[in-house]
Amino acid sequence: MMDLETAKNTLGEEFSFFCDLFMEQLEALALPTHARILDVGTGMGRAAITLALSGYQVLTGEPAQDHSEYAKQPWFTDAQKVGADHSITYEPFDATALPFGDGAFDAVFMMGALHHVDDPAAAVRECLRVIAPAGVLCILEPTPKLVSMARESHPDHPDPTDPTRLVQGMDVQKKPGQMFDTYLIRPSSDS
Ligand SMILES: C[S@@+](CC[C@H](N)C(=O)[O-])C[C@H]1O[C@@H](n2cnc3c(N)ncnc32)[C@H](O)[C@@H]1O
Repeated sequence: MMDLETAKNTLGEEFSFFCDLFMEQLEALALPTHARILDVGTGMGRAAITLALSGYQVLTGEPAQDHSEYAKQPWFTDAQKVGADHSITYEPFDATALPFGDGAFDAVFMMGALHHVDDPAAAVRECLRVIAPAGVLCILEPTPKLVSMARESHPDHPDPTDPTRLVQGMDVQKKPGQMFDTYLIRPSSDS
């Protein structure tokens, strides 16, 4: 597998941009290398590839029936180019009805995916269900600035979703950013 900087040069500017933003949050979480990780909403595979390049095994997926412009992207070719394909397992799934047991993961990531889900409340509920009590749900949602950039190529791009309104009574740590706001939600903080 390539080192991160060589992989960024290989996959280009757009991957590099998202990779850097994601890495900042990933490093802050300091997950152990054996952490069981789920990436919800494969898309362009930027989160999954960054996780793999960081030494994690990752399970990623999106709905089999999603034929929107955001799904079924050629991420596997990118993963192969940088030798990250062996650390990524793809399985189609719907975030609103995850086919995994309670507490199956130590960390669940949704990078730029929650606002694409039809029923975001059900998706967050399901993500929290599959996280172990000491685990974390890490949601990155685009800021209005990033959404307006995205609308230059995708005029129908949806507005961001604020997960805090979906998990009332839970402690949500919000980390505002220039391009993404990050929300950390921990099942153990459920009161
Ligand atoms: C903009 S892409 C996400 C970008 C991606 N995380 C990355 O790192 O490149 C949005 C993703 O959300 C997925 N999505 C939409 N509805 C979903 C659902 N109900 N369950 C899981 N994923 C969903 C889409 O299929 C797509 O993969």
